[in-house]
Amino acid sequence: MIYADYNGSAPICGDVKEYLINRLEKGPYSNPNAIHHLGQKVLMGMENARFTCSKILGCKPGQILFNSGSTEGISHIFYSLLCGKLEEGKNVIITSGIEHSAVVKTAKYYEEKGFTLKVCPTLPNGVVNMEALEVYLNETPGNVALVSIMAANNETGVIQPYKDMAELCQKHDTPIFSDTTQLIGKADFSFEESGLDYAVLSGHKIGALTGTGLIMAKDLNNLKPFIIGGGQEKDLRGGTQNYLGNETMAVALNYFKDNSHKLEDLKIKREEFEAKIKEAFPTVVIMGEDAPRLASSTYISLPGIHGQAVQIELESEEIYVTTSSACSDNEPVTSKVLKSMGVTDDVGRGVVRISLGLCSPLDWYDKIFDTITRAYNKLGKIKSY
Ligand SMILES: Cc1ncc(COP(=O)(O)O)c(C=O)c1O
Repeated sequence: MIYADYNGSAPICGDVKEYLINRLEKGPYSNPNAIHHLGQKVLMGMENARFTCSKILGCKPGQILFNSGSTEGISHIFYSLLCGKLEEGKNVIITSGIEHSAVVKTAKYYEEKGFTLKVCPTLPNGVVNMEALEVYLNETPGNVALVSIMAANNETGVIQPYKDMAELCQKHDTPIFSDTTQLIGKADFSFEESGLDYAVLSGHKIGALTGTGLIMAKDLNNLKPFIIGGGQEKDLRGGTQNYLGNETMAVALNYFKDNSHKLEDLKIKREEFEAKIKEAFPTVVIMGEDAPRLASSTYISLPGIHGQAVQIELESEEIYVTTSSACSDNEPVTSKVLKSMGVTDDVGRGVVRISLGLCSPLDWYDKIFDTITRAYNKLGKIKSY
């Protein structure tokens, strides 16, 4: 079996599995907020995890808030930064055309509440147009409540100039959040060096348990209580913490730190795969080919061959990839990310996303190449659209 959908969800990392089995056997279990000895032991374990996460993510333990994942983190950040801002005249939100639906739908929710939403266009290579961001920031000086532009795209893997964006926003005295869900665990990242005000991590994207995540904030005091409850997480998120889950994030991040040198090999193998597929099928399009991309993903299309048909062919040989096409009434559509890059439906319908992990065997690319070649040749004869 070849699992090539890490951008969707990474399998639980081997170190995490081993840690959890041991941890479940040995305990302790308790409420980390209890004052008795066991509670304090559990709290200490969780705070150690916070410390480890902070060290690897380049921030301070006091800048981390544990939660359930990126969707919650995004909602929490938007809520904190937009609450009461209309009344202050800060009525503009700037985002981009390549955001994940967790940002798109949250931004739309606030647009319906009266905010003006400005969406930065995308260059054909999948990079957000920085000039547009500057124009938007200059258009309404002092009125921008939040800039929210992702750091790496979940479909294309294109890495955005998030440090430049942070610098620009700093000059305009405007808070910036970047959805770093896909970047962390797939590329080096330091919150401090990023210059960002807020970033997020999703546990299941890095090999930790699903339902775990965290927010990084320059100053956690700028967040507002999102879930009201028993005062946990500095009163910013009520509810007993998922301490076991939080510990798995520290283990997964440690695994990334110890293995990140393998990213270069993965990138070289990805480039070899792309070169081979282009040679075999000269009309193949590689999304974001000339942009900086995550080493672990490639997003390709052979116009005329439907991506979902390719996915089914690959799955019949136990190779699990995804396409970007959402289906409504069985009508395949080009994803909004690709549309914002100006990709035509002919190409957009054909995409297949191959996303691997840090330690995926490199020869998986050879197996995927052989199978996709057979699929393209077979489907090319019957032309799926
Ligand atoms: C870029 C991006 N942002 C946010 C999310 C949502 O993350 P979670 O599943 O942790 O809520 C995802 C997950 O697919 C993602 O890829």
